[in-house]
Amino acid sequence: MIEVATLTEFAKDTLEGLSASPKYLSSKYFYDTKGSRIFQDIMQMPEYYLTDCELEIFETKKQEIFSAFTEKDTPCNLIELGAGDGLKTKVLLSCFHDQNAFFEYTPIDISEETIKNLVIDLEREFPGIRINGKVGDYFRLMEEINRYDQTKKILLFLGSNIGNFNESETLNLLNKLKSVMHSGDLLFIGFDLKKDPDIILKAYNDPHGHTAAFNLNLMQRINNELNANFILHNFRHHEVYDPQSGTAKSKLISLKKQKVEIHDLNKAISFEEGESILMEISQKYDVEMITDLAGKSGFEIVRNFYDKRQFFMNSLWKLK
Ligand code: AVJ
Repeated sequence: MIEVATLTEFAKDTLEGLSASPKYLSSKYFYDTKGSRIFQDIMQMPEYYLTDCELEIFETKKQEIFSAFTEKDTPCNLIELGAGDGLKTKVLLSCFHDQNAFFEYTPIDISEETIKNLVIDLEREFPGIRINGKVGDYFRLMEEINRYDQTKKILLFLGSNIGNFNESETLNLLNKLKSVMHSGDLLFIGFDLKKDPDIILKAYNDPHGHTAAFNLNLMQRINNELNANFILHNFRHHEVYDPQSGTAKSKLISLKKQKVEIHDLNKAISFEEGESILMEISQKYDVEMITDLAGKSGFEIVRNFYDKRQFFMNSLWKLK
């Protein structure tokens, strides 16, 4: 059932994005099985500093994070939105586990394979922790959790996943999160910070070609699932970063004038030479922007945690 709903939405969004001017596709569709694997390669490359920075924050600040999350003996449900491989969260789980904290872990992801692997992995490593893996839409699942579980919730939205949304989508997302939170619940968000533009560009335009493959894989997915005939080598990945706004954009540029047919949408798409498709935005923040965002969306910052280079920030929010 989830599969069909996703496919319909995928088809609809693809049609809308490729019919628009300028053309765009949504990065939320990057994460099919192959895309999730390529993202693992991205996270492992030295140029992609984000994962290392957040891991450093967790490793060096886990005790303070633990204290900020919960008073002793208050049970809580750690709910992770977009859990992925859980690599970083494991550091927190292990720390909380060692203190005999009373908590459960609810990883949510849109990829079923990801959640299956994560649950198997965590149950082996932490046999004492209750793990409730869930696949699907964040909000539907949280409304479901709210119906049977009144435990204090700590929502984890890590890894700069928030960066994929534009400003109005971000406010919309935070408002929706607010609506499933109760007073006392917390929201812990990972923000990538503005920094030397060269460092940012290298993270998204890597010499190994992983980011290019990640973007092109969405075209391949359209070929596979919507019966299209994109020729992948007729497009090239291109990254831009604007230090002023803090927005990084991934684009695929058409290398020639060409026409692509998407049979399942009954649609032919024409490209001029040099025309681009906007594939993803990865927003970078400064503290003012983050404080502003919290205020505008009805939250208050409890505490900010940084890595030593101040490349990244994990910000803990409560309801205002
Ligand atoms: C998973 C959204 C945090 O934007 O940095 C990595 C995805 N795209 N390289 C990011 C991504 C290209 C990533 N997030």
